[in-house]
Amino acid sequence: MVQLTPEKILVTSAWPYINVTPHLGNLVGSVLSADVAARYYRLKGDDVLMVSGSDTHGTPIEVEAIKEGITPKALTDRNHAKVATLFQKWNASFDNYTSTESAVHKQFVQEHLMKIYKNGYIFAQETQMLYCEHDQRFLPDRFVEGKCPYCGYEHARGDQCDKCGRLLEGTLVEPHCIICGSTPTFKTTKHWYIDLSRFSDQLTTYLKDNKQMPSNAKNFSLNWIKEGLKPRAVTRDVEWGIPAPFPGAEGKTIYVWVDAVLGYVSATIEQCQRLGKPEKWREFWFNKNAKTLYFVGKDNIPFHTIILPALLLASGEDYNLPWDVSATEFLQFKGEKASKSRKIGIWIDEALEMFPVDYWRFFLTATRPEVKDTDFSWEFFVGKINADLNDTYGNFIHRTLTFINSKFNGEIPQPTKLDADNEVVLNTIREKVETIAKEIEASKLQSAANTLISLSRVGNQYLNEKEPWKLLKTDPEKAGTIFYVAAQIVKALAVASAPFIPTTSEQLWQTLGLQSSVHKARWADAVTPLEAAHKIGTPKPLFNKIDADEKKLDEVLRAIREKKSAP
Ligand code: MF3
Ligand code: ZN
Repeated sequence: MVQLTPEKILVTSAWPYINVTPHLGNLVGSVLSADVAARYYRLKGDDVLMVSGSDTHGTPIEVEAIKEGITPKALTDRNHAKVATLFQKWNASFDNYTSTESAVHKQFVQEHLMKIYKNGYIFAQETQMLYCEHDQRFLPDRFVEGKCPYCGYEHARGDQCDKCGRLLEGTLVEPHCIICGSTPTFKTTKHWYIDLSRFSDQLTTYLKDNKQMPSNAKNFSLNWIKEGLKPRAVTRDVEWGIPAPFPGAEGKTIYVWVDAVLGYVSATIEQCQRLGKPEKWREFWFNKNAKTLYFVGKDNIPFHTIILPALLLASGEDYNLPWDVSATEFLQFKGEKASKSRKIGIWIDEALEMFPVDYWRFFLTATRPEVKDTDFSWEFFVGKINADLNDTYGNFIHRTLTFINSKFNGEIPQPTKLDADNEVVLNTIREKVETIAKEIEASKLQSAANTLISLSRVGNQYLNEKEPWKLLKTDPEKAGTIFYVAAQIVKALAVASAPFIPTTSEQLWQTLGLQSSVHKARWADAVTPLEAAHKIGTPKPLFNKIDADEKKLDEVLRAIREKKSAP
């Protein structure tokens, strides 16, 4: 694990549309996952930059602004501030959480697209687009719904089918206007397209050669290329967005996804400018040893594995293409998809009013929908918190530190002879810490969180078997050795839990009487021993057991929600 030069690691999470507050399902695969990874790589000593921002353009925002009767700008200013604050409360350690309204971003998008245009990858064409006579407007993307021409799903949107994930290009069957419900007509307009098919070979090679990307992202993307990439419009006939920079494209704006994915680059540039190192962004985007990680929901896959890479390749510059696109499945709520209007789901502001942030961070990471959808229920949540966080992790730490405090004067006891059993445990610490690291590096965050708990389980079993409290009188040295070993597990847990439950791990670090902050420590410190005679503080329980009354929990949530929607 010795690593001499820090690696450059760019950790990103999907830019949320801020028409609404994200719900837990939005958070788990994007911001929360990215944060766990970023915190881990920082501990490892890497040069980490974690960026994302609010996706402020596009039809989701416009549709909501129309509903609320305010301008898209007013809507996004209000919601950006709100969402950014919420992410802080979730302890998301963004180096830069910006917005697609940022000046640096807008300029970068326009310049990048002009570069591609000059390289000959963008062409203009007259086309027939869906138009609503009643609302007097074109109906791109989320202004229109209809049947998916591939899978038949009834509520597919103009640019993507939520069911099969395919990207669409105004090819819906039986479309209708989302504002007035009427059937649109076609109207001639002109748009600018990027010819994706010219990148088919390069993209295929890139995807096939990529050893890191999980198979869901890889296979979906390779299949799409096999079906044949088509030109994709990069402009839209809507007012809200970044003005298209192409000659003759006055009045058009850039398609929101093309705008947003380029945000990964512009947010890096913006942050490096702020740091007073305006050239440093290149180290993340061109240095071939840099790693770029993208944490997204599975419906975002093609934008990160095809659209973004194509946009980068088309610039003719040697950009790093995404190294990992870790795409989660969906988090359901009691068997159903989250829905604001039907009040199904839990929103990230509500969650924090119910339980401390680390309860949620742990639960969501430890049940992260990595290979299949997962289903939230109170029973699942309460069970996991009580059994894993409280009874296993919390309990092991608390009993160990309480004993050391009361029976050893708060000092780590001096170990005498370490016998084979003790050595086994000390080895297990090293193995588990290493396993957690490997799992995080493979973006298997769910396994990593559960391995963390299994390390505390080892501690509990060790104490239960050895019963050192019985030896306090008869063989105090042996008892001391056992608590010395147990204390090493506690130290390892403090460091290894920092990416997952940063508040709790810091509290533990302070109780252990260690220097500075666990978040400034090194991952390797997990296995450097707490020395004998080191003085610890007074332990306080890290968690509280939750009362498993589902009805009550539902009521609490309802009350929070009512208070929120009250004027
Ligand atoms: N706003 C999109 C969504 O919520 C995600 C954009 S990710 C991006 O689904 F970074 F590519 F912008
Ligand atoms: Zn479909």
